[in-house]
Amino acid sequence: MPTLPADLDSGPRRGPAPAAFDVERLRADFPALHQEVHGHPLVYLDNAATTQKPTAVLDVLRHYYERDNANVHRGIHELSRRATEEYEAARRTVAGWIGATDSSELIWTRGTTDGINLVAAAWGVDHVGEGDEILLSILEHHSNLVPWQLLARRTGARIRYLEIDDDGGWILDDLGDLLSSRTRIVALSHVSNALGTINPVQDVVARVREATDAVVLLDGAQGAAHLEVDVNALGVDFYAFSAHKMCGPTGIGGLWGRRELLDEMAPYQGGGEMISLVERDSSTWASVPQKFEAGTPNIAGAIGFGAAVDYLSALPHDQLLAHERELVGYAMERLRSLEGIRIFGPPDPEARSGVVPFTLDAAHPHDISTIVDAKGVAIRAGHHCAQLVMQHYGVPATARASFYFYNTRDDADRLVDALGDVLEIFG
Ligand code: ALA
Repeated sequence: MPTLPADLDSGPRRGPAPAAFDVERLRADFPALHQEVHGHPLVYLDNAATTQKPTAVLDVLRHYYERDNANVHRGIHELSRRATEEYEAARRTVAGWIGATDSSELIWTRGTTDGINLVAAAWGVDHVGEGDEILLSILEHHSNLVPWQLLARRTGARIRYLEIDDDGGWILDDLGDLLSSRTRIVALSHVSNALGTINPVQDVVARVREATDAVVLLDGAQGAAHLEVDVNALGVDFYAFSAHKMCGPTGIGGLWGRRELLDEMAPYQGGGEMISLVERDSSTWASVPQKFEAGTPNIAGAIGFGAAVDYLSALPHDQLLAHERELVGYAMERLRSLEGIRIFGPPDPEARSGVVPFTLDAAHPHDISTIVDAKGVAIRAGHHCAQLVMQHYGVPATARASFYFYNTRDDADRLVDALGDVLEIFG
């Protein structure tokens, strides 16, 4: 049986590096990678959508349901005690992953989208009014656009947008004009899911702080999965992220917020466990994080998220990143040899995460994806929930290969070979 997360409040955030980075050894940890799809060994290049799960996480989930399954913070019995302990230990572990010093600042959510909606609803309701401004960028995933549009529609606030240049970077010269005394919140992505751009968030936060009292939220769905994150060093107020982009289960994520903001925010949803006292006409709230966790939470998901962070923490993070960058550089170089290809996003592989979006003149991205799938290569095609990015480039969709540390040069070669078939079919 796997051992469950111990109290991980102490000790280094990242474990010691093994002697050498061995991708084949790591791949052995991921059962889903070792299968055939349409008669070919699977090449999984859709990691920006979701990553595969290591056995260590699957074992912890199974162990939890087989031995410790009970509701948390409710029962006075052994299973509930164990479940509660594991659930709160996971909170400390995941909080540590993003550099949070107080784990009560980490609220469990369903994922990044849920975390951003929580802030838009619970913080927005008391801080954004008619004529106020919300600053976003056109690089955002719909999950960091639509909640703010809903808030703006309810309150009469105005949304302003930071534009991007053709390499997929923010046009920072515009920032001064976009910030004003009416700016209440600046909500931006740490890393773009559609282009892979690693955004200069620290510079932007510094400039926001100089110019306004606005709070800053980062969509960390791709950031927490690929970069070393320290919310305090970044200087942000809220950071939302998802487990499933970083080896954890779906349906669970974290929203980190500064304690003073969380303390004064209204609850997001009402229900069990988020209250202190319920009377006929009113109620009082539990303290954070429970104030924002109404109802039975995703207990197994949280424990699985903790196990994913334990797994990642034992890997040499710098080497994983270097491997991912090397792979992206290699894939971009190989892809450039294909006729009629257009690769989107930063030309420098160092300036992007594992994401490589592209189009081919010869075929629609959906056709590309279908044909490479027939060769066992999984990529995503579509607008990637980033229609403003597609509009910027004047394309309806892109094909997107997204790499993770368990991918190899052979995966990139298999993609390029499969794209050769696309060119042949449509050529
Ligand atoms: N946000 C996920 C993606 O980029 C689903 O594919």
